[in-house]
Amino acid sequence: MIKVAPSILSADFGRMADAPVNILRWGADLVHCDVMDGVYVPNITFGMPMVAALRPVSELPLDVHLMITRPEKYVGRFCDAGADIVTFHPEASEDPRGALSEIRARGKKCGVVVNADVPFEVVEPYLDEIDMLVVMTVQAGFGGQSFKEECLEKARRAEEIKKARGLDFEIELDGGVSPSNIEICKAAGATVVVAGSAVFKAPDPAAAVKAMQI
Ligand code: DX5
Ligand code: ZN
Repeated sequence: MIKVAPSILSADFGRMADAPVNILRWGADLVHCDVMDGVYVPNITFGMPMVAALRPVSELPLDVHLMITRPEKYVGRFCDAGADIVTFHPEASEDPRGALSEIRARGKKCGVVVNADVPFEVVEPYLDEIDMLVVMTVQAGFGGQSFKEECLEKARRAEEIKKARGLDFEIELDGGVSPSNIEICKAAGATVVVAGSAVFKAPDPAAAVKAMQI
């Protein structure tokens, strides 16, 4: 069954401590935390202090997505703040393998992210060393964007490699996912989907989560 990771980017920032509690109450599986530095993406959200603040109020795993430059400098501090999974964009790093090994050394799950405008070849070299591949189905930087169906080809290629090499990394689709496109997400090989606006803006968030756990 697909796991659903609501993104707190779409939560009420004035009441962020409620977000992990609501996400659990809605029956979701992970808390997706979108970290943005204003350099790798043209937006700024939050950093390690927010992850540390949410750790004690979240019974679910914290799935931290680093949209930052030089992530290798910060992955350790996000792990120490309480992240369970840390993923980053390898083209933004001067030492992607160093970042992956630092996350693993702290006993956390590691992964890389392929942005909508980045070719699959950029992440292919890391597939044997990760716990999660995040395939962006929007261009990183903002919630509420339209789903880019053409990005699903990267998930399909990743799933082929998983099968061919007997790998078991998660394939997480991130951006514009909703109950209306969950079938094609699953068919493309998704095992986890991020959903920000489709959950937080839904009249019935629990029903939206359930509709994607197929
Ligand atoms: C975008 C983020 C996504 C986004 C998802 O840069 O990585 O996680 O918050 O939000 P929706 O589901 O609204 O596209
Ligand atoms: Zn994200």
